[in-house]
Amino acid sequence: MTARILVIFGTRPEAIKLFPVVHALKADPRLECVVCVSAQHRQMLDQVLQIAGITPDHDLDVMQPDQTLDTLTANLLTGLGRVMDAVKPDRVIVQGDTATAMSGALAAYYRKVPVDHVEAGLRSYNLYHPWPEEANRKIIGAMASLHFAPTQTSQAALLRENVPPERVHVTGNTVIDALQWVTAEIARRPSLASGLAELEDRFSGRRIIGVTSHRRENFGDGMEQIARAVRHIAQRPDVAIIFPVHLNPNVRKVMNAALAGLDNVALIEPLDYPHFARLLAISTVMLTDSGGVQEEAPALGKPVLVMRETTERPEGVEAGTAKLVGTDAARIVTEISTLLDDSAAYETMARAHNPFGDGQASGRIVELLANEIRH
Ligand code: UD1
Ligand code: UDP
Repeated sequence: MTARILVIFGTRPEAIKLFPVVHALKADPRLECVVCVSAQHRQMLDQVLQIAGITPDHDLDVMQPDQTLDTLTANLLTGLGRVMDAVKPDRVIVQGDTATAMSGALAAYYRKVPVDHVEAGLRSYNLYHPWPEEANRKIIGAMASLHFAPTQTSQAALLRENVPPERVHVTGNTVIDALQWVTAEIARRPSLASGLAELEDRFSGRRIIGVTSHRRENFGDGMEQIARAVRHIAQRPDVAIIFPVHLNPNVRKVMNAALAGLDNVALIEPLDYPHFARLLAISTVMLTDSGGVQEEAPALGKPVLVMRETTERPEGVEAGTAKLVGTDAARIVTEISTLLDDSAAYETMARAHNPFGDGQASGRIVELLANEIRH
């Protein structure tokens, strides 16, 4: 009898990091894969489902405008519990640190169904940076059966928390699988990523800075500072900024107010994954507070300035391709200017480096699952 694996996700980054696992599960006759999306994100999730060719078996459609953490979490917990009662999975998979992942793990635990954690063991050791993700990861880690750690650093963090060593496996991060998959798709069908051509023409001859920003702990003053920094950098005639703005209204209102109407700043809608991969390819520098972008940029040899005080992904910083710059506007401007004006500083950071994985993480995860079910 095949074992039934329920894969749960709800936001853009979870979808990107789990589609390769879903593809691998669906290709494996030993396992039955059932996909449940919470739709904690709606449009930004659907963009990924479409490109990855995944039709969910269950869709909770929970997203509400400007949702609060408590309403969201309550809806997720009850909704995911109902799906589990209907599907009766043998095991559940969650990814990362979102409200969907935490609620999925809790609902599984309440039913005594083993829950396996993809991207386990990331820790910043600061409960409020990133918030609420640091707590979400720890809560999931307390209940998980198998912990799929992306790197040795994350494995070591789990071992320090006394997780039994035989439950922790270093697999690499599935984001590299996703990036390699989308890169191959673009090579096969270049039109998948050709939608930026007009902007590329308009900005030709300028160096492109790709920007993303969405962290809850940066709402308010942090977002204002980021907007001020981008406005300041845009005074340079030799740069152009491409900024796909997250759909969270707390991000959009600040960025639209501060940056709309500037000639060399393109505030655009969230890009689908092939177009975001294109943005990474054409950017000279990435400026971001995203988790996933911190992992993708080093893989492509793009210097990435991380607008956070701490990171649960120190591997990029240790490899030299990522640098923590916080959210002080003056500091961000100084750091970008250094990279633009000092070619030695730029070259030091611009080295392709893959501390986060080799693109084979999903295959390892599926093998480990199949092995676990056999025993
Ligand atoms: C969530 C995750 C965060 C992750 C981020 C990735 C939690 C608590 N937060 O943060 O860990 O890093 O996603 O992007 O799990 N919205 C839309 N359409 C969309 C997506 C969002 O309109 O497709 C708007 C809605 O108004 C929604 C709001 O954004 O209420 C916030 O979404 P939410 O998932 O609560 O938080 P994020 O800041 O996106
Ligand atoms: N991304 C995307 N389109 C965009 C911005 C980001 O496809 O317009 C991808 C990016 O390549 C990365 C992921 O979304 O894989 C990161 O998601 P986000 O920054 O929303 O969340 P985080 O990683 O911080 O949890």
